[in-house]
Parts: sequence; structure tokens; C-alpha cells
Amino acid sequence: MPGFTGLAVPGPTNMPFRIRQAMDVPLEDHRAPDFPNFTLPLFVDLKKIFKTKRGEVFIFPGSGTGGWEAAIANTLSPGDKVLASVFGQFSLLRVDLCQRFGLEVDAIDTEWGKGVPLDEYRGRLAADRGHSIKAVLVTQNETATGVTSDVGAVRRILDDLEHPAMLFVDGVSSIAAIDFRMDEWGVDLAVAGSQKGFMLPTGLSIVCASEKALAAIDKAKLPRCFFDFRDMIKANSQGYFPYTPATTLLRGLRASIDMLLEEGLDTVFARHRRLASAVRAAVEAWGLRTCAQGPVWFSDTVTAVVVPAAFNADDVIKTAYYRYQLSLGTGLNRVAGKVFRIGHLGWLNELMVLQALGGVELAMRDVGIPFTPGAGVGAAVRQLSEGVETLTIAAE
Ligand SMILES: Cc1ncc(COP(=O)(O)O)c(C=O)c1O
Repeated sequence: MPGFTGLAVPGPTNMPFRIRQAMDVPLEDHRAPDFPNFTLPLFVDLKKIFKTKRGEVFIFPGSGTGGWEAAIANTLSPGDKVLASVFGQFSLLRVDLCQRFGLEVDAIDTEWGKGVPLDEYRGRLAADRGHSIKAVLVTQNETATGVTSDVGAVRRILDDLEHPAMLFVDGVSSIAAIDFRMDEWGVDLAVAGSQKGFMLPTGLSIVCASEKALAAIDKAKLPRCFFDFRDMIKANSQGYFPYTPATTLLRGLRASIDMLLEEGLDTVFARHRRLASAVRAAVEAWGLRTCAQGPVWFSDTVTAVVVPAAFNADDVIKTAYYRYQLSLGTGLNRVAGKVFRIGHLGWLNELMVLQALGGVELAMRDVGIPFTPGAGVGAAVRQLSEGVETLTIAAE
């Protein structure tokens, strides 16, 4: 089919040409004497994305899931107790991962459409007077439902209760797109992947560890080899890696960080918020609802749209894909068939969002979902032009 293919899934995201060009280089010697000239500043600047001065960043070949394996294996021991909550496929998978590592997980089952249950977390932590809970898990952005949770609020609970548990955050679909503050929020382990806010291909697990998490490494008894932070720290301090790094992706990461810092993180977050608000305006104008149950949970990187009960969301997704070359995110697990997801993160502007919304309208019409054609696109245009000054182009 002629024309561009639309990628409106919540990762992998659209890749900027600048990043593509940065990776279009001959393969290089990762043990070259001047390789550290490239890697050492890269580590320094990557910390700025996590907003950390005290933490340590790690870049493993892998994906977000690998980052989680690294986080758990380096800091915990079999039988350690972990507090978690499940409100979507990804928060569910983190619990599964912890269980497979032999951890004892207290997983609070939460309605899909809401996020981290702060009151329940407070209750569980307050009751844990012996401090047997070693880590608290927070999925900052649940990609399956388009729900964002308040990481800072969990830190405040831990501090109020003077509970020493480590705070682990899944930032795979939020970091570099939604505000994240490693040091300010006292996050001990944060996990990201390359294929979302970083606008890169999949292939890097990006992890940030606090001083407290680093201090836990030697006491942690879970087995680890490939993901051992200690090997990484030793090699990284010299600008190298304990095994062959994904150098091409690292070149892309350099460009990604440069782009994020040049745009300015606050501007990046504001852009995501603006584009997300346009998508939400469209959903409302279609007469549909988001899976996220209210503004407190709205995600600025992904919106899960609930289709009317008589319809199957997969039909919208298939129609968009086969007829209009537009990829939308599928409903996962409990919300399969009930929602389709519009990813709005990474290298994205107004027109790309409007293109996705137009594609959704075409597909929804084809499958017979009732709405006024153009209503969503129109609402998004109104939302996007709100507050924008009229541009006067002076005559020559
Ligand atoms: C919130 C969240 N956590 C974890 C993952 C898993 O990451 P990966 O697929 O890169 O292993 C994803 C993937 O989409 C995600 O959205």
C-alpha cells in the first residue's frame, strides 16, 4: 500500500530520523582506547533523564523485562517479601516475575482502570511493624489500561511510616515522556526500555539504582550473572562493559538523550500532556470512555479506549491495520476485545496524533460503532488550538 504506515502503539514508538542517522555507522570496537570518551559522558547525561545525581545508571542489552530481572536479582533474596498491586497486564507481569524468583509477593488486586491503591499500601506498610517488606513496587504508567500512578505519594507514605522498604518503579512507558524524579521521590530502582520515550528500537534495558539499592547488592542472594550490577559498575567506571554492548543502540541513545535535553524535559512532558489531552477530547466526542477511570489516573503516553459492549475492539484494530495501515495497541488479558489503545508518546506532533485519530474514526465507522464522523478529530483540533495565539504572517 502506498503512503506511510501509522504507528500508534504505545511502543515501539516512531523513531526520529536523527536517531536513525546516528545509528547508521560502521560497527565499532567496544574495547577501543577512546571508547570511554563516548560512554562516560553518555552515562552522565543519561542520569539527567532520570533526574538523579546520586544514582547509578545501567544499560544492558535487553528490553524492559530484562531491566526488571536485573532490578530484582541484584537487590533481593529468595523469600523476601514484596508489596505490589495489579491493575493491568504489566503490573501483573511484575508480580509473576517476582514470584518466579521465589519472592513472597503481597499483590493487591486492583480494579483495571485505576492505579496504585495508596490507602491499601499505607495500611499494609503500617501493619508491617517488623519491616519484613523489603520492596514496594509501583507501575508508574500501566500501559495496558493507560493509567498513571503517583510515585511521589508512595514515597511520602514510606517516609511517614519510616518504613525502610526499597521503592521500585516501572517506568518503561513513562520515563522520558512523563515526569520522573529519581532523587526527589527517593526511588531505589527505576526501569525503562529503549523503545518508548527514548524513541529507539527495542534492545536496551535501562535501569537506574539509588545508593540504597547499590548497598543491597552484596547482601542479595538471588542468582545473577548477565545482569550483575557489580560487573557493570566495575567495567562502566572505566567506560567499558563486561561483555559486548549494543554499540549501535548506544549511538542512538546518545542522539536520543541529546534530543530530549535540547527540547528540555519539561517541554517534552508538556508536549505529551497536550497531545494526550487532544486524544482524550476525541474519545469524549466519540461518546466513548477511557479505561482510565478519571483524570487522576489519565496517562499522557497511552489512552485505552473502551468500545461499546456490542463490539469487539479487535475488529477496530484489525480494520485500522489492514485497511488504513495504522497500528493501534491491542487489549491485553482482562481487557482483550474491550479496548483498543492509542499510543501517544515519543517522537510525536499534532499532525501525527490527528492522523491516528482519523484512522480510528475510519476503522470505527467501518465496524459500525456509532459516532458522528469528524467529531473526535474536531474535538482534538479544538483542544490543540486552545490557547494558541493567532499567527499573523506579515506581508512581504
Ligand atoms: C509498563 C511496562 N512495563 C514493562 C514492559 C515490558 O517491557 P519490554 O516489552 O520492553 O520487555 C512494558 C512493555 O510494554 C510496559 O509497558
